[in-house]
Order: sequence, then C-alpha cells, then structure tokens
Amino acid sequence: MSENTNPFVAMFEDPERARSYADGPAKFTPGFSDMHRMVNVLVQERAPDDAHILVHGAGGGLELEALARANPGWRFTGVDPAKPMLVEAEARLGELMERVDLHHGYIDTAPDGPFDAATSLLTLHFLDEEERVETVRRIVERLRSGAPFVAVHSSFPQDEPDRDMWMSRYEAFAVASGVDPEMAHNARQGVSGMSTIFESEVDMRILRDAGLTRVAPFYAAFTWRGWVGYSP
Ligand SMILES: C[S@@+](CC[C@H](N)C(=O)[O-])C[C@H]1O[C@@H](n2cnc3c(N)ncnc32)[C@H](O)[C@@H]1O
Repeated sequence: MSENTNPFVAMFEDPERARSYADGPAKFTPGFSDMHRMVNVLVQERAPDDAHILVHGAGGGLELEALARANPGWRFTGVDPAKPMLVEAEARLGELMERVDLHHGYIDTAPDGPFDAATSLLTLHFLDEEERVETVRRIVERLRSGAPFVAVHSSFPQDEPDRDMWMSRYEAFAVASGVDPEMAHNARQGVSGMSTIFESEVDMRILRDAGLTRVAPFYAAFTWRGWVGYSP
C-alpha cells in the first residue's frame, strides 16, 4: 500500500485539484452536511467528551472541521496519502489544528491507538476488495472494544441497466447543484470507469469480513451509502 498507482487516487496529488476540492462533495453527494451530522451522532453515542478519533482519508479536512467544531473536547488523528489534500485540510482547519495530527500516508502510518471511534468518508470506494478489507481491518485493530467505525462511500447496483441509470442520476444531481454540465459528465465518466465500486450487499460483507460487528446501514443517497459497525 505504499505506492499510489490508482489513477483515481493519484488525482488527489494534483495541488490545483486539491485547492478546489472542498466545493465538490456537497454538489455530488446529496445531503452531505446532514450526513456529517449523522456521522457525528453515531460517534457521539459511544465516544467520551475527551475522545480521540481516527479519520481515514482525512484530506480536505471537511469532516475533521465538522466533527471538531461540534465536539470541543475531541482530538483527531487524520491519515491520507495525498499531501496536497493534507495541505488543504490544514488550511481549512486553522486554529482547530491544535486538536488534530495529520499523517501523510496509508493506514499503517497512523498510531496504534486505541481510538474511541474512526471514520472513512468518501474514500473506501477507491480501494479494491482486498485492500479495502485489509485497510478496514487495520482501522478496527486501532479501535477500543465496542468503538464505532463509520464509513460512507460510493455503493450502488452494478448490473446494467441499473448501473447506468444511477450514474445518470449522479450526473443530474451534480448539474442540479450548479456543477457545469460538462464537468458533471466528465465526473460521471470517471466514476463509470471505476472497477472498485460494489453493490451495497458486497460493501456490508467487506465491513464484516474486516472484523466489524453489528454492521448496519444508516445513509442512502443516490449512489452513496453509509454504514456503522463496531469493534469486537
Ligand atoms: C474524495 S476524497 C474524501 C476526503 C474527505 N474524507 C471528505 O469526505 O471530504 C478521498 C480521499 O481519500 C484519500 N485516499 C485515497 N486512498 C486512500 C487510502 N488507501 N487510505 C487513505 N486515504 C486514501 C485521497 O487522497 C483523498 O484525500
């Protein structure tokens, strides 16, 4: 997991793209800020006031900002292999960085913990099944027993004609959110070309295979799904 050969990950290494990243997620992910509030509720259920939270795929800093503002006593460790995305996270977080450690690299570069909770938002769909199971396993190893892990990523029917219909809705939502139609179409082409997106049943099995218990869906928004599971 040391070399970044996936083109959909390598794109986050582009500083220009990283600079404009923060505008995108809310336009491509229906209910993005409500989803952050849901993640916060799920983590708050189990995490103490002085919790230490592991944020996987922390680039851009959007969920770090939402969680840090909502929980003044929490500390965070963020991990991400794309340096420009970490630079943007640091700029976004400003004084909140007092409670955040950012690690450049994959999950192995994160401290052992134990953490009180972990998140991986809009990230795991870039990993193939083997790397995804292994990555979530390493996240789970870093959690206290009973701690929640919350994941949200691209997950939708993969058989035609349904796959194309959901891709069409993905593009239409972006256009309805104000994204330039050509950009929205290019984004659709990019996602359509990915071979690391699965049906939600497969995603749930991957999370269980990685060692999580009581895995349950909590978020469904066009091509996006979210689950919470617990460390054994
Ligand atoms: C679409 S962005 C999501 C960023 C942030 N979680 C959010 O919700 O706005 C995906 C991020 O995952 C990072 N990433 C890709 N592969 C990763 C991996 N194997 N481990 C950790 N982060 C990864 C990318 O560098 C990028 O910053």
